[in-house]
Amino acid sequence: MKVYLDNSATTKLDSRVFAAMKPYLLDKYANPSSIHLEGQALYLALEKARNEVAEILGAQTRGIIFTASATEANNLIIKGFARANRTSQKNKILVSELEHPAVLEAARELADEGFELDYLKANKRGIIESSELEKKIDDKVLLVSVMAVNNEIGTINDITTLAKITHKFGAYFHSDIVQAIPYLKIEAEKMGLDFFSLSAHKFNGPKGVGLAYIKPGLKIKAQIVGGGQEENHRAGTHNLPGIIGLAEALKIAYKERSSYLKNVRTLRDYLWRSLNKEIKGLKVNGCLKSRVPANLNIMFGSIEGEAILMDLAYKGISVSTGSACSASNLKSSYVLRAIGLEAYNLNSNIRFSLGKYNTKKEIDYTIKALKETVARLRSFSPVKTPAKSKSKTKK
Ligand SMILES: Cc1ncc(COP(=O)(O)O)c(C=O)c1O
Repeated sequence: MKVYLDNSATTKLDSRVFAAMKPYLLDKYANPSSIHLEGQALYLALEKARNEVAEILGAQTRGIIFTASATEANNLIIKGFARANRTSQKNKILVSELEHPAVLEAARELADEGFELDYLKANKRGIIESSELEKKIDDKVLLVSVMAVNNEIGTINDITTLAKITHKFGAYFHSDIVQAIPYLKIEAEKMGLDFFSLSAHKFNGPKGVGLAYIKPGLKIKAQIVGGGQEENHRAGTHNLPGIIGLAEALKIAYKERSSYLKNVRTLRDYLWRSLNKEIKGLKVNGCLKSRVPANLNIMFGSIEGEAILMDLAYKGISVSTGSACSASNLKSSYVLRAIGLEAYNLNSNIRFSLGKYNTKKEIDYTIKALKETVARLRSFSPVKTPAKSKSKTKK
């Protein structure tokens, strides 16, 4: 049996999304920036997609800038806004320490250019509290960036409150909402988001397309220059099939949101309850309550996460030890370290991220497989499972 439980890394393309994209891959191939009739017809399709996306996300249509990924969107927003608006009074950037590398590395580049950079610390539950922002923010801050949902532990930040605090200091607020779709209802204007970024492949859309939201009126320096597309914010021929796919995937995700959330929560809770009953010494990393219902990040203690991952892979089950980006560089997770995991437990974790195609049968198979895997690996681990941690859940 094949079981895919790595939906935070990427998701399967919805066949309805593919059907919506197909005409734009085959017959409707003109460039939407061309002046001829074919091009202009596709320009209308592009703008229709932009409108639909803005409406679903409660954002202004003109602020939607299509990109090739959320990585690109984060780079455009963080570097483009900071570089265009720096003054001697406002030259400080605040980012949460749990951000995706696309935000952390962009902010680090700014620090190399002389910007002051500071980090907002997460609490032990994996959440950036408003008191932490209140403590760190001052009138020198230009931009604050806090993700809506963490990609490793699925914890949710109160971005509306964080945006409000940010604005009191005359600063601007960005949120990476990549992992929040469709778990959170996004109403950008109401929530006070000046900027946000997302990526279609995280919600059953195509790879290679994302967007940056830049509230109209805010000055930004393009990071990719050329033909002046996307209001001069991002040059390059439009990936129209991708953009059509992004809009369609977003529409489906929010239309089917309530039944999806119910199903995925039922499966995730069943997975955790069963594992916790069947296997001793497990802990959930981060707050279980304030997290998206598709995520379960578990600390196994005394055995390597990599060994569990490989054993499960042989049984047809795909999971991850942290984010997909950190899986190849074998460094332990900075997210888990930041929320206080002891050094000896940092390499003993698995992220299960469920999606809309998972079934109860697959979860049952995973529980059975994991029980065998853990028993086998523990049987030759020199470290004893700490009996005290039995059935304890971090809240
Ligand atoms: C929170 C977060 N931000 C940004 C990204 C990068 O997205 P993309 O794959 O579109 O570059 C990811 C992908 O893992 C993510 O989880």
